[in-house]
Amino acid sequence: MNISGNPSRKSVAYRTGKKKRKFFFFSETASPDFRSLALLLLVVFALTVIFLKWFFEDRVDGFLPGEPSARTYFALYPMKYVDEEGTYVLRSRVGDTIAGVLVRDGAGMDRLISRIEMMAEGDVVRLSLSPQLTDLIKSHPEEKRKRILQESARLADIYLQSQEGEAPAFTWSPEVLWREIEKLALPMEENNIIYQVLDEVLQPLARVDPDLTRALREDMAASLQAVERSVGPGDVLVEKGQVITDQAARILEMQGYSKVLFPWKQILFALILLPFWPLWLSIQAGGRDSGPDTEETFPWIYLAFIVGMSWVSEYASSLFQAQGMGALFLAGCAYLTLPSRLALQLVLGGGILAGLVATGFSTLQVLLVSFMGIVSAFGGFFLLRDVHSRGHFWKQLFLLGVIQTITGFIIRWAFSLPFSGSLLLSLVLAAALWSSLVIAVLPLLEDSFDVLSPLRLIELSHPSNPLLKKLQIEAAGTYHHSLMLGTLAETVADKLGMNANLLKAGAYFHDIGKLRRPVFFVENQMGGENVHDELKPSLSALVILSHVREGLELAEEYHLPRIIRSFIAEHHGTTCLSYFYRKAKTMGLSIPRDQFCYPGPRPRSRETGLLMLVDSVEAALRAEVRGTLSTPDIKDTIARVVDSKIAEGQLDNIDFTLRDLAVIRETLLSALQTMYHTRKVQEIKEKETLQKNNAKQEDDVQ
Ligand SMILES: [Fe+2]
Ligand SMILES: [Fe+2]
Repeated sequence: MNISGNPSRKSVAYRTGKKKRKFFFFSETASPDFRSLALLLLVVFALTVIFLKWFFEDRVDGFLPGEPSARTYFALYPMKYVDEEGTYVLRSRVGDTIAGVLVRDGAGMDRLISRIEMMAEGDVVRLSLSPQLTDLIKSHPEEKRKRILQESARLADIYLQSQEGEAPAFTWSPEVLWREIEKLALPMEENNIIYQVLDEVLQPLARVDPDLTRALREDMAASLQAVERSVGPGDVLVEKGQVITDQAARILEMQGYSKVLFPWKQILFALILLPFWPLWLSIQAGGRDSGPDTEETFPWIYLAFIVGMSWVSEYASSLFQAQGMGALFLAGCAYLTLPSRLALQLVLGGGILAGLVATGFSTLQVLLVSFMGIVSAFGGFFLLRDVHSRGHFWKQLFLLGVIQTITGFIIRWAFSLPFSGSLLLSLVLAAALWSSLVIAVLPLLEDSFDVLSPLRLIELSHPSNPLLKKLQIEAAGTYHHSLMLGTLAETVADKLGMNANLLKAGAYFHDIGKLRRPVFFVENQMGGENVHDELKPSLSALVILSHVREGLELAEEYHLPRIIRSFIAEHHGTTCLSYFYRKAKTMGLSIPRDQFCYPGPRPRSRETGLLMLVDSVEAALRAEVRGTLSTPDIKDTIARVVDSKIAEGQLDNIDFTLRDLAVIRETLLSALQTMYHTRKVQEIKEKETLQKNNAKQEDDVQ
């Protein structure tokens, strides 16, 4: 198991150890599928925030397309838009100016030519006039009939030529025709007949082509550019009582106003998008979904909870026009309790999703909130990693809030959104509020989800901690051993890029169980009698082995975080007290070997594994105090202890690389050389005498 796949020097806060504890919302003992539970929790948060926004804002203050507006809507920022309705009206008008496209009627023209010829020949029969008119013409004498037909043919020919463009335009109308006939100076009766003949013979030689007319109208309309309009802040978009058209609805949405309708679309979008969240984290956090063991330790529920709470914060911020500040809450919680890289991914994903969940789906608001989430993620990465006190953390978080405020103003300026002094005040106040809130809820989160912040670790490691004070007074030797171990482990952890604060706190509490019976442990005997001399080896082993169980009981009593308890439980792994086992065998006692072994578990995290190595090396060196302690001795001891732990399989659950082990050896050598060489050789010789009786068992009771 690896509890620090993305190690951060100051911020590892995963759970380890058995799952026993009840959590604020969920018991993580119930099911190992925390990822699904986390997703469910996130969906609940998303739906809650979407519903809250709709219920308290959009439902009361929204608009409905096709219905009269309940209020007057003003433009919030300048925008240009295509006036679709205006464009349609304009294009319709242009189309209406085209009455029709006339085309020549070729067949009609041929027919007219042949009839003119018939009239010129005086052939009234083939002329195919109406029967009444034919009879009327026939009733006239031959000469008169010919004149009527020839004059008709002449006038018809003039009309034909005018239609072919060979004569002046001859606009066909009864008045014009009659005027031409009167010029003939014939008797009225003949004029009447000529008029009737021409009226039947002369048909319009052009007709309106509907297809061409439609095509021309469309061409003309298309050649007109769409009507663009622009609005500025404060311009009326829709007046109260005015029916909201589809176009007005679109503009209102673009301006950030919401519809009164239940946001089904937004809910659907959230439901489609949210399942990608755990997938994203799994990939970005470095393949944590690769096995059940890693899955078990990944704090899914906690991650979902702080992301969900940041959406609630975002919604609360939006009530005071401080959009985008919800990400500050997430950044504060994440960077303080998670490895930096995981926190970066979490804030990045959570911030972008906040834009979709908590903004009512308004395009610019989505953009604004998502962008501020991104700034929060990267800003937090640099500002919130190395905090060393609550005051310092508050300042850094507030500074991040100020950076977000500036970013928010830049985005508003870039998109011509309105900004004012009151908005600046809202944003700064929100930054201060969320920074304070994170500080306030952090202990609650740590307790509920069993996560640890570096602040909590620093507080735990402080000498004023009641359990450490008790250790200092009642088991001074163990206290000293723990402090020394803390320094060593912290140094190595720093070199390996692990959480040094966690190692230090773990070292301080790892042997806390020795408080029950301090004198049974050699470091507390101060040169006095060794109580084990009078005890059966099995009883000695029982007392020594029990310091792990009793340590866990004390940790429970003093409410130590579970990750600290894992150091108590795992620092001996399943090693055995070989000195007492050998002593029992020498005494002829037949006791099973496993009665001399710790129950385990073997270290399950890099941190507890490292502590086991450092603890064992330190104890072995104490046991090997020889007056001539020199550098090669320390080096050999370190190598021997590390190799034996590996050979015993105590580190089988940990992914230490060969390079890691080399760094551990070198750093321990360097630190221990300094520690041991500052002592005078004579002092060591004196100690050798004092500890002669205890030395061999020391390795068993670190
Ligand atoms: Fe121990
Ligand atoms: Fe120890």
